Amino acid sequence: MTPTATTDHPETPTQDGSDPRCIPHKMTGPLPVGDECLYPNYSAEEQDVWKTLYARMETLLPGRAADEYITGLRALDLDRDRIPRLSDVSRKLDQATGWKIARTPGLLDAHDFFSYLANRVFPSTDYIRARSELDYTPAPDCFHDIFGHTPMIVHPRFADFYQKIGQAALNCKDAATEEGLTRIYWFTVEFGLIKNPSGLRIYGNGIISSYGETQHCLTDKVTKIPYTPERLAQQAYDIWHFQNPLFVIDSFDQLENEFVRWSKERGLL
Ligand SMILES: [Fe+2]
Repeated sequence: MTPTATTDHPETPTQDGSDPRCIPHKMTGPLPVGDECLYPNYSAEEQDVWKTLYARMETLLPGRAADEYITGLRALDLDRDRIPRLSDVSRKLDQATGWKIARTPGLLDAHDFFSYLANRVFPSTDYIRARSELDYTPAPDCFHDIFGHTPMIVHPRFADFYQKIGQAALNCKDAATEEGLTRIYWFTVEFGLIKNPSGLRIYGNGIISSYGETQHCLTDKVTKIPYTPERLAQQAYDIWHFQNPLFVIDSFDQLENEFVRWSKERGLL
């Protein structure tokens, strides 16, 4: 999930936001969580779209995905051939870091979304994109949410950082700080890079669930800037194109420590 009505992939042709999947839902009641998430009656075509997406992305991960992402993906042991059950992924996340998954019908209103993060619950969709949208989709689907997001939530420091983003967002009182926080979310959770011992790697969920962006982001066409929350908060982004610049953390300890400092200086934590 992303916190606002943005695109899952920057090359979507539906740039006017008219796709109903891009309109945030205001919740009318609590979402089903963990074992309350029922498994949809997916068609064989939908299962095959998952299988195709997984197989394509798996070939790109070596030498590109962060060690921490790969570790999380292995720990979750996601099914390659069938769309995973949210209840199963939720149970594994709970064992790893105390996070659970809630099933959301689509994009959530930002306040609702951050409220769930603040309580260590990740709102995930359970529908999958059409085959015609393998390379891009105008809104999050379960490939983005499950394959992209959940492996990083296995990492203890990332999991704590993700919760603190939710807590800080709920305490935002002014629009400028809120915009800065949204940019920090964008350039870390969705589009972050990290210096691993073996080189520059991807941990951003928006990149790792996008075939094109994963191949593009580590090239010389993209400017890489060291992570500081102040710098990220100033960086506007264009959701319709590949992201440039991108921001590089040294470690997840640095990611969280610097974010906590920035948030405390603004009375958000
Ligand atoms: Fe997302």
